Amino acid sequence: MPARPSTFPRAYAVQMTSGRLGDPPGSRLAPGQNPSAETAAIVVEEWTGRQLTMRLVEAMDIYALAMRYPRQTGAQRAISARQHTGYRGFACRAAVRADGALVGFGYGYTTARGQWWHDSVRRAIPPDHAREWLTDSFELSEIHVLPECQSAGIGRRLLTSLAAGVGNRSILLSTPDADTKAFRLYRSVGFVDLARHYFFPGDGRPFAILGAHLPLREHA
Ligand SMILES: CC(C)(COP(=O)(O)OP(=O)(O)OC[C@H]1O[C@@H](n2cnc3c(N)ncnc32)[C@H](O)[C@@H]1OP(=O)(O)O)[C@@H](O)C(=O)NCCC(=O)NCCS
Repeated sequence: MPARPSTFPRAYAVQMTSGRLGDPPGSRLAPGQNPSAETAAIVVEEWTGRQLTMRLVEAMDIYALAMRYPRQTGAQRAISARQHTGYRGFACRAAVRADGALVGFGYGYTTARGQWWHDSVRRAIPPDHAREWLTDSFELSEIHVLPECQSAGIGRRLLTSLAAGVGNRSILLSTPDADTKAFRLYRSVGFVDLARHYFFPGDGRPFAILGAHLPLREHA
């Protein structure tokens, strides 16, 4: 999900425009490292907006680390995240280690006119798509897992738990238009293209806008 122009770090936008848009370096487990022992004990919990607000500093640190943004960007993003917790249809999942540490989270809400992302997407996709996809849709605003815990199925658990728990007709998101873990994960649960190579205002990176009807399709 791109940040609103007012909160997006311009230096980062410039840097990414000229770079490759794949997974950031260092976000995979080291060769030979077995994630299963660590991640088996991780529980995916349903959190209220209040619970997320109370753990927002940790959550935004994970956001900044996962996205390879400066830590300060997480602090800025916390302002909008706090607002999001009050949106209609807000739902959140947290991946929590046995010792209580947060290692990942995902949240979203029912997308609605007047919200920055919704209005941008409405302009980006054809009107018949907008009618189909922007009504009764859950907007997955954020989903992030600590780099050292990625590629072990936690993101998938967060996503499928959220998708199973919301009452909307569909789920929507935007993601950098590149071969990333996020993109591969979304494809693997049936997300289809609504727009590709779309530039949100104030962000130099091309994005894909993806959607899936709910329930998500079953997977091996
Ligand atoms: C995107 C993100 C949340 C996914 O979390 P994760 O725990 O790494 O995800 P998972 O392990 O469940 O799935 C991701 C990987 O497993 C693959 N995968 C998992 N289950 C799969 C299945 N049943 N079939 C095929 N592929 C599967 C995905 O395709 C992807 O491939 P890779 O690890 O080989 O690159 C996490 O990687 C992250 O925080 N990335 C950086 C931040 C980011 O991009 N956030 C999303 C912004 S839109």
